[in-house]
Amino acid sequence: MRIIRPPKTMAAWSQRLHREGVTIGFVPTMGALHDGHRALIRAARLQCDALVVSIFVNPTQFAPTEDLAKYPRPIAKDRALCRAEGVDVCFEPGVTAMYPEGFDTVVTVPGIARRWEGESRPHHFAGVATVVTKLFGMVRPDIAVFGQKDFQQAALVQRVIDDLSLGVKLIVYPTVREQDGLAMSSRNVYLSATERALAPILNKSLQAGAAAIKDGATAGRKIHAVMTQVLRREPAAAVDYLAVCDPDTLTPLESVRDRAILLGAIRIGHVRLIDNVVVRRP
Ligand code: PAJ
Repeated sequence: MRIIRPPKTMAAWSQRLHREGVTIGFVPTMGALHDGHRALIRAARLQCDALVVSIFVNPTQFAPTEDLAKYPRPIAKDRALCRAEGVDVCFEPGVTAMYPEGFDTVVTVPGIARRWEGESRPHHFAGVATVVTKLFGMVRPDIAVFGQKDFQQAALVQRVIDDLSLGVKLIVYPTVREQDGLAMSSRNVYLSATERALAPILNKSLQAGAAAIKDGATAGRKIHAVMTQVLRREPAAAVDYLAVCDPDTLTPLESVRDRAILLGAIRIGHVRLIDNVVVRRP
């Protein structure tokens, strides 16, 4: 496995492979890789000839109050995971190489970024859209794999690909969970033992909403109430948002017809957790 740091070296590598007719797959990450990332890497590995994983803790998607400085960076472990999964290039650009003096372009997707995660984290999605566009420019992937865990992020990336004609095929891979239902996340390491024990409550709440839909509930307000009630059982979990939405537009549904996405974000202590469940009516 090659470790590449300079963006120009990455771009040159990709251009050479494209000339040779090799297809390039890409999994962008911020490192602290877990089994969720591993599943994305495995899915990508099956769909391309050469596979690039990027590890870049992107400062522009963190608010000043967020956890940029303490975000976990176990680089040796991350490289070992990539090597074990048959990754060809681990791309680890530096912050100044990504954002040199004079950097001035921002990719914004106001429609998708307005709600939910975007409301709680106002500059987050502009940071994500910009860095993903840059990374695509360097890696020039044919396919890119993102996780459903960050459903709104995947929707945003699809919008950017379409709107800016980036020509990348996006694959969205299902959320990988711990045995008790908690969605795997690099941030789960911040949870104390007590907090970790109650963290699955978010998924339980979304599952209760999904069960209500399967049992025939259609009213968005009713389903929302079912989810809220589960979270009320745990006062240590502060609800950021819960929503019953159209999976294509992410707008709230008054009434569920055939498909819905249930979105949620909570805070436990200082840790913010997000999750979602897609529901199809039988
Ligand atoms: P990061 O949080 O490291 O996640 C990298 C990718 O892994 C994302 O596509 C995310 O949705 C996916 N992922 C995380 N946990 C997952 C889980 N439990 N199951 C399935 N997939 C999971 O998302 C980012 O980094 C950044 O915003 C990035 C896109 C790299 C831009 O900086």
